[in-house]
Amino acid sequence: MRDDLELVVAADADWGIGKNGTQTLVIPEDRRHFREVTGRGTVIVGRKTLMDFPGGRPLKNRRNIVLTRDGSFAVEGAETAHSVEEALEKCRQDGRVFVIGGESVYRALLPYCRRAHVTRIFARAENDAFFPALDTLPGWRLADRGEERESAGLRFAFQTWERW
Ligand SMILES: NC(=O)c1ccc[n+]([C@@H]2O[C@H](COP(=O)([O-])OP(=O)(O)OC[C@H]3O[C@@H](n4cnc5c(N)ncnc54)[C@H](OP(=O)(O)O)[C@@H]3O)[C@@H](O)[C@H]2O)c1
Repeated sequence: MRDDLELVVAADADWGIGKNGTQTLVIPEDRRHFREVTGRGTVIVGRKTLMDFPGGRPLKNRRNIVLTRDGSFAVEGAETAHSVEEALEKCRQDGRVFVIGGESVYRALLPYCRRAHVTRIFARAENDAFFPALDTLPGWRLADRGEERESAGLRFAFQTWERW
């Protein structure tokens, strides 16, 4: 585990996070929250999630490390890493590092993360991508359940989960 490694995810009541390569439930406040949390830090992102960003472009004002097994993959404004170990090595000196998905990258890096910023949406959508259910995973606890909010007819909370 690394103290500087955190994770940011929006998950529905079933821990669903997306379908057909894109996010199912989108809340504008959550997009703002995501920008605030990740600030000017480093993000680690899977190649498929990067492709789903507007124009397939990396996030601005942050160091982007893209995980891919494709040795020829390159995109302007991002660095590539070809294994979890390589990604972790690249950001060793970076201060705050955020794992931002998708499913395969969350699963691969969750064991290294100290904290998870979870936008928990109290609704159910049809998903084919899921985040590990932290509420049943040993070693994780809900440190801050956040206040319940509502936007676009969806109830949600900005939760913080931590290892203990
Ligand atoms: N709700 C949320 O907060 C949230 C956030 C992010 C994503 N999502 C959702 O998650 C879904 C995408 O998840 P996904 O699992 O299909 O794709 P992904 O994790 O974004 O990307 C998968 C790709 O990452 C690369 N990769 C993964 N593990 C690797 C490793 N250990 N070493 C090297 N490369 C590795 C591979 O790229 P190559 O194929 O190039 O080798 C793999 O195909 C979408 O539905 C998206 O909307 C939701």
